[in-house]
Amino acid sequence: MQLLSTVLVALVFSGARVADALQVLPTGMTVVLGNVIYFIPPTPVATLSLRNSSEAASLKFGGALVPFTFINASGGSFGPSDLASVVAKNAISDDVWSSDFMSGLYITSATTPSLSPGNGTEIILSSSGTPLSASIPSGPYVVDTTSGGIFEAWRLYSDENQAFLYGTMPDGNGGFTELSANIAGAATVSIAVPSRLYFSPTADKPLAGARIAVKDIFDIQGLRTGCGNRAYFQQYPPKNATCPAVQRLIDGGAIIVAKSKASQFANGETATDDWVDYHAPYNPRGDGYQDGSSSSTGSGTSIAAYSWLDYAVGSDTGGSMRGPAGANGVFGTRPSHGAVSLTDVMPLSPELDTGGIFSRDAKSWQIAGNWWYQNFTQFNKYPSTILFPVDTWGSSFLENPPKSGTADAMFNTFIQKLESFLNTSRTEINLTTMWNATSPFIANVSNPPPPLRTVLNTTYADLIALDQISLVADPFIADYKASHAGQSPFIDPAPLARWNYGRTLNATTRKAEAITNKTVFMNWFQNTVLNGTNNETCSNAIFLYPQSSGETTYRNAYIKPPTAPFGFSAGRIAVYAETPDMVVPVGELPYNSTISLATETLPVTISFITQKNCDLMLFSLFAALQDAGIVSSVVTGQKMFA
Ligand SMILES: *[C@@H]1O[C@H](CO)[C@@H](O)[C@H](O)[C@H]1NC(C)=O
Ligand SMILES: *[C@@H]1O[C@H](CO)[C@@H](O)[C@H](O)[C@H]1NC(C)=O
Ligand SMILES: *[C@@H]1O[C@H](CO)[C@@H](O)[C@H](O)[C@H]1NC(C)=O
Ligand SMILES: *[C@@H]1O[C@H](CO)[C@@H](O)[C@H](O)[C@H]1NC(C)=O
Ligand SMILES: *[C@@H]1O[C@H](CO)[C@@H](O)[C@H](O)[C@H]1NC(C)=O
Ligand SMILES: *[C@@H]1O[C@H](CO)[C@@H](O)[C@H](O)[C@H]1NC(C)=O
Ligand SMILES: *[C@@H]1O[C@H](CO)[C@@H](O)[C@H](O)[C@H]1NC(C)=O
Ligand SMILES: *[C@@H]1O[C@H](CO)[C@@H](O)[C@H](O)[C@H]1NC(C)=O
Ligand SMILES: *[C@@H]1O[C@H](CO)[C@@H](O)[C@H](O)[C@H]1NC(C)=O
Ligand SMILES: *[C@@H]1O[C@H](CO)[C@@H](O)[C@H](O)[C@H]1NC(C)=O
Ligand SMILES: *[C@@H]1O[C@H](CO)[C@@H](O)[C@H](O)[C@H]1NC(C)=O
Ligand SMILES: *[C@@H]1O[C@H](CO)[C@@H](O)[C@H](O)[C@H]1NC(C)=O
Repeated sequence: MQLLSTVLVALVFSGARVADALQVLPTGMTVVLGNVIYFIPPTPVATLSLRNSSEAASLKFGGALVPFTFINASGGSFGPSDLASVVAKNAISDDVWSSDFMSGLYITSATTPSLSPGNGTEIILSSSGTPLSASIPSGPYVVDTTSGGIFEAWRLYSDENQAFLYGTMPDGNGGFTELSANIAGAATVSIAVPSRLYFSPTADKPLAGARIAVKDIFDIQGLRTGCGNRAYFQQYPPKNATCPAVQRLIDGGAIIVAKSKASQFANGETATDDWVDYHAPYNPRGDGYQDGSSSSTGSGTSIAAYSWLDYAVGSDTGGSMRGPAGANGVFGTRPSHGAVSLTDVMPLSPELDTGGIFSRDAKSWQIAGNWWYQNFTQFNKYPSTILFPVDTWGSSFLENPPKSGTADAMFNTFIQKLESFLNTSRTEINLTTMWNATSPFIANVSNPPPPLRTVLNTTYADLIALDQISLVADPFIADYKASHAGQSPFIDPAPLARWNYGRTLNATTRKAEAITNKTVFMNWFQNTVLNGTNNETCSNAIFLYPQSSGETTYRNAYIKPPTAPFGFSAGRIAVYAETPDMVVPVGELPYNSTISLATETLPVTISFITQKNCDLMLFSLFAALQDAGIVSSVVTGQKMFA
């Protein structure tokens, strides 16, 4: 058993390979190879054609599970130097494959490979001697030498930042199951990811093999949708269909690897007090004890924390993508309203809800955005107007240039580079005076018009409360009471405060008024501030405001009880105007942590607003800015930049 001593395959799950006749459903198993833990799904992807037991014996098959590297050789002959180059490529392009998978080697090639055992390789098979029942991609596999079954190897990772509810696996029937495996001793859920070697992106499948986490308000066939509420999670059975937004990503080749935590019913919650039903995910930046913002918290923190994850999907109604992107220092979209279907996604307010995606890299982000927001037109020319709304920028901008060492100085440097890239200079505007001078309310209501902070003070709070009461809260509470002898479900303080506020309003009149105010603002912002559309650059203008400025929000600080979200700020502009608002990392600012008692850094990020439905122009601009070295991809962990 020399083979087993080098390979060390440890069965953690027993009963995983029992025959169907025993009526026990296998759910896969976890195995250890080297120091790494893998999940082996229950169903083989192909089998080796073992013609008889003596042939099996001559191939050293002893009934063990043997790790194999499969190689689809493109050329004619395959020899040691070809093998060396495949090994070198595998080592840099995949986190699942390792040289421990070299115990067995299977070469698909037109001719018999000229290789002999050695260097830890004990078995060499090829398509000429031992055909496969089906062709499979190159990569790491585990071969069951009793049956000849070939199983994929998925690497397990721990969710150390507590970003997820559970890991997911495709169920082979178009849906997903909750991952049954767990890394012992981690005290968190585990996530399984497939080898990157199994996939190659194409035009039809630009997201092939991309590992994606999905906020737990999007329905996925086979999985429950919990919306951050424990009672809601238990109340409804697993979904029988995947929502169109997630299906589009799956159709593009994406692999859904986890359901990520949402703050409750996608309402804003601040760590830790507000997060009663589930513990808030851990923002990895700085001292690791900063709030990760909400409501797409798990999605935002996971992209900032895990290099093995490629994208995370969230939603943004009033800042639920942009807040986490800013706090966690990653790229995050609030797209134009209507950019993706939100059918079978839990609503907060359908008039305002949008589906967004987080990424660590502007070019990867563009690939996902172009695929997901499929109905928009691409633009590769950019606006020559940069709108700089002075009343949304920090007071240090009143000094020109801003004081060095501040977030504003960092923003200013970034905007200067953007100005030179777009061959323009910023146009300063003051939204307050512009509204006062050009608001349609002048003609319709009064002169001067009521200020924006009055017109839009309760608009958001009214819409989300009234919509969510009728679409989510009332039906859920009724269903729960019906199945719990009239008892009510627990609701976290933040959504409860909002719903309770909404219950004091006249739903009919307030909603109509809120829609009117929203529409007046939208038309004004799109036509007057952004100055309409442009057939070459989509939008006439780009509107910039600060998203996060390296400020601390410690998660061990006690906060005030939540209230309904009144007020108007720059973050509400895209919400009402239906425009995209995309968050881009700019830098990081030092602070003295009261946790680590050391100097740490926190993200500085900027928001780009542009005309409605011009999302793909922005993705293209960010990719071009990354090429020009003005925008940089970020890394995972405490610091955004390596
Ligand atoms: C096993 O199969 C091989 C290939 O078909 C054949 O040459 C060999 O004789 C078989 N051995 C036995 C014991 O049947
Ligand atoms: C084993 O490794 C050595 C050194 O990398 C290489 O020269 C040789 O070709 C390898 N042999 C096989 C059978 O892979
Ligand atoms: C799927 O679930 C929905 C909602 O629970 C239900 O109305 C519908 O009948 C189900 N469809 C199928 C095909 O089971
Ligand atoms: C985008 O276009 C596709 C194909 O025409 C259509 O099925 C889909 O509903 C559209 N999506 C949105 C969000 O409008
Ligand atoms: C913007 O205009 C308002 C109203 O005229 C004024 O009070 C405010 O100081 C201006 N803001 C800046 C930063 O200039
Ligand atoms: C608003 O405009 C009116 C004139 O229509 C002017 O008297 C007033 O000072 C302006 N207010 C602000 C805050 O700019
Ligand atoms: C916004 O509305 C709330 C609730 O009605 C009120 O308490 C607050 O004073 C209002 N703020 C402004 C600026 O109108
Ligand atoms: C809401 O306001 C309308 C218009 O004033 C009124 O007709 C209606 O009765 C009110 N609804 C409730 C529930 O009070
Ligand atoms: C709509 O705007 C009017 C005029 O400023 C304001 O009095 C009202 O409170 C606003 N209502 C809502 C629901 O936004
Ligand atoms: C608005 O856009 C048009 C082109 O569509 C341009 O001619 C005009 O100068 C722009 N106005 C402002 C205020 O930027
Ligand atoms: C863009 O608009 C301008 C002015 O309206 C027009 O002259 C030009 O032909 C348009 N270009 C395209 C490509 O449609
Ligand atoms: C951190 O504290 C040291 C010592 O008090 C101080 O010199 C330094 O300026 C502080 N740094 C920041 C970023 O606040």
